[in-house]
Amino acid sequence: MTQAKTVSPANGLRGELTVPGDKSISHRSIMLGSLAKGKTLVRGFLHGEDNHATLNAFRTMGITINELADGDLEIHGRGLHGLSEPADVIDCGNSGTTIRLMTGLLAGQGFFSVLTGDKYLRKRPMKRVLAPLATMDARIWGRGGGEFAPLAILGNPLRPTTYDSPIASAQVKSAVLLAGLYAEGETTVREPHLSRDHSERMLKYFGAEICPFKGGVTVKGQPHLEGREVFVPGDISSAAFFMVAALITPDSELLIRNVGVNPTRSGIIDILQDMGAKLELLNPRELSGEPVADILVKTSELKGIEIGGEVVPRAIDEFPVISIAAAFAQGTTIVRDARELRVKETDRIAAMTSELSRLGGRVEAREDGMAIAGAGHLSGGLVSSHGDHRIAMSMAVAALRAGKEVRISDTACTATSFPNFWDLLEKVRV
Ligand code: S3P
Repeated sequence: MTQAKTVSPANGLRGELTVPGDKSISHRSIMLGSLAKGKTLVRGFLHGEDNHATLNAFRTMGITINELADGDLEIHGRGLHGLSEPADVIDCGNSGTTIRLMTGLLAGQGFFSVLTGDKYLRKRPMKRVLAPLATMDARIWGRGGGEFAPLAILGNPLRPTTYDSPIASAQVKSAVLLAGLYAEGETTVREPHLSRDHSERMLKYFGAEICPFKGGVTVKGQPHLEGREVFVPGDISSAAFFMVAALITPDSELLIRNVGVNPTRSGIIDILQDMGAKLELLNPRELSGEPVADILVKTSELKGIEIGGEVVPRAIDEFPVISIAAAFAQGTTIVRDARELRVKETDRIAAMTSELSRLGGRVEAREDGMAIAGAGHLSGGLVSSHGDHRIAMSMAVAALRAGKEVRISDTACTATSFPNFWDLLEKVRV
């Protein structure tokens, strides 16, 4: 599964594109569609490997999910207590969202289940969800004293909890909220900064009683969820590669249509605008409880900035490509408060530092971030994706403005979130 790709410098990127559906919203549409009563229609579902892991998991638990001709999904939900015991281990592949959210959701079932994943996922920390779930009486075991998958879950009646999360993580928050659906009474999660709130919005959309407040959110257990039509907007995390590509490549202008711009996800827009990006949101609207807009972006002179605090969780998946924007900015960009990058699909601080350095970038890794000197020039060369989709795509963006061709090893991983990335890149190159 290595599949190396060579990307040559571009003269410009022009035209219009739509990026595939939002990965986080796609996961949640299957989960809540399955736990709702009746039919849920999911429009614009992301057919990537991560979301297929979630889809297969619910099929193995007895949920009928039909794929319609245009890729939309029809889910025949069986209600909160309608899942059946899976006959085999559930493989979550590379998907942290699948394994962590499902751990919460499975903790309150009347059956036994086992979750595992690929070699990257099996190295990622799981105690962050097991610890709060234990306060709800969940019974879950894992390797390394409960830190690593495979995870074995013996479903158990749950009691509600109030959890003060030390990290701003939507996966932790969502795991506890999903477990909270099975508890009698109110479950509350507080977090240091607001992480993406797609679970909250979609739970409300499906009819749960959910109450966000400053610093946290409360959900009431045992709701009746009703099947709905869900429109999945384009993934801002995928659009981000094209935003940065257009900003750093001379003579570029791109219109990216139908992008989800939920404020808990749109940190990339604030960061790029602070760096001096010519980037505008057009035609703002709302779809299934999520804000959506078109994004117009043009080649820009960027400047280095300091990034930290509340914007970090709102842009958490975009730091690999932000480091590429920083490499072509005037001055130094400092990223701090981003320790979470060390436990993503790979250690993204280490991976971006090593791969940018290979192309002559001047980057220093720090414990909770990085310092990137805007050298304004990268050379060609050979780089590695580290098996991480967002590192692979970020290096492809860097290549558009590098002095010579860049060869990226192991690019098959882009299928986890953005299967047509390479085709779209070809389409908009002039
Ligand atoms: C996600 C939450 C984020 C993000 C991941 C998807 C989600 O992880 O990095 O790609 O769908 O809830 P954390 O919540 O662990 O920060």
